[in-house]
Amino acid sequence: MNDTYLLPNGVSVPKLGLGTWRIDDNKVAQVVRDAAQIGYRHFDTAQGYQNERGVGEGIRTCGLSRDNVFVTTKLDAAIKTFEGAKEAIDGSLKTLGLDHIDLMIIHSPQPWMDFREGEHFFEGNLAAWRALEEAYAAGKLRSIGVSNFEAVDLDNLLENGSVKPMVNQILAHVSNTPFDVIDYTQKKGILVKAYSPVAHGKILDNPQLAAMAESYGVSIAQLCIRYCLQLGMLPLPKSANAEHMRVNAAVDFEISDADIAALKAVDRIKNYGDASLFPVYGGKLQADGTLVARD
Ligand SMILES: NC(=O)c1ccc[n+]([C@@H]2O[C@H](COP(=O)([O-])OP(=O)(O)OC[C@H]3O[C@@H](n4cnc5c(N)ncnc54)[C@H](OP(=O)(O)O)[C@@H]3O)[C@@H](O)[C@H]2O)c1
Repeated sequence: MNDTYLLPNGVSVPKLGLGTWRIDDNKVAQVVRDAAQIGYRHFDTAQGYQNERGVGEGIRTCGLSRDNVFVTTKLDAAIKTFEGAKEAIDGSLKTLGLDHIDLMIIHSPQPWMDFREGEHFFEGNLAAWRALEEAYAAGKLRSIGVSNFEAVDLDNLLENGSVKPMVNQILAHVSNTPFDVIDYTQKKGILVKAYSPVAHGKILDNPQLAAMAESYGVSIAQLCIRYCLQLGMLPLPKSANAEHMRVNAAVDFEISDADIAALKAVDRIKNYGDASLFPVYGGKLQADGTLVARD
């Protein structure tokens, strides 16, 4: 939790962060305080999680100085205009109750309703990016980046933006590791953050992983988190449970090359259960706001 990666602009970021998706706004402040007590120094929220207020409260009341905490938030996936993004960045600062944000990223190249439907929203992402660049230059944001971006989406900003994205936060875990986009992002000198590193909890009963984890004297969650680190990524496990938080951060062991190769080849998870309903797992948000799972 104290080891760091260096972002392209020289800002250091703790190698492990706590995810906060699906933790209610009225509960998350205590979760942040518990995690800070355990040693977490890096927290991941988003406008879309509707818990920025509570995350900000947790950061302000956890007993650590602001300089010792790294907070990431995300510009809502639907915002694809300069003015809309500018207003939303100031909105996040206000909701978090902080005078700066350590990292702000575009949540997705597509609004969720259009996720991976073929349209890339190049102009809209560039407009949002210009607003992030402006806030970065003004010192409101210490670093800026993207999430769920494919190579073409990254190229759009690399070729047309003024500031190179510093981070690409993507779905990456054992059994579902997008090697191409990881390789492309890393070759551009951009840090890859791995979200859902324990597959939203849906991989924790896998017998093949259980045997390998046992051989290292660790749990499947620890094996999965360590796997992300050894691929040079920054894992963001979510937990609201203090014991899980402790376990997830105790990953000071080394997976052998042969086992990394075996982990890379684990069969893809087909069913994320209730989490399948979220667009990033293949679900689809309908115009009326309901979600349906894809096959
Ligand atoms: N950029 C994006 O589009 C995007 C999308 C999804 C997620 N994210 C970010 O990434 C974070 C993590 O992803 P995620 O929340 O989807 O999934 P995850 O971290 O892979 O899994 C979280 C689930 O696993 C359980 N869990 C965690 N550690 C455990 C352990 N040691 N033993 C048993 N169960 C454990 C948690 O329950 P407990 O709380 O009970 O421990 C929770 O149900 C999110 O919170 C969010 O910050 C970003």
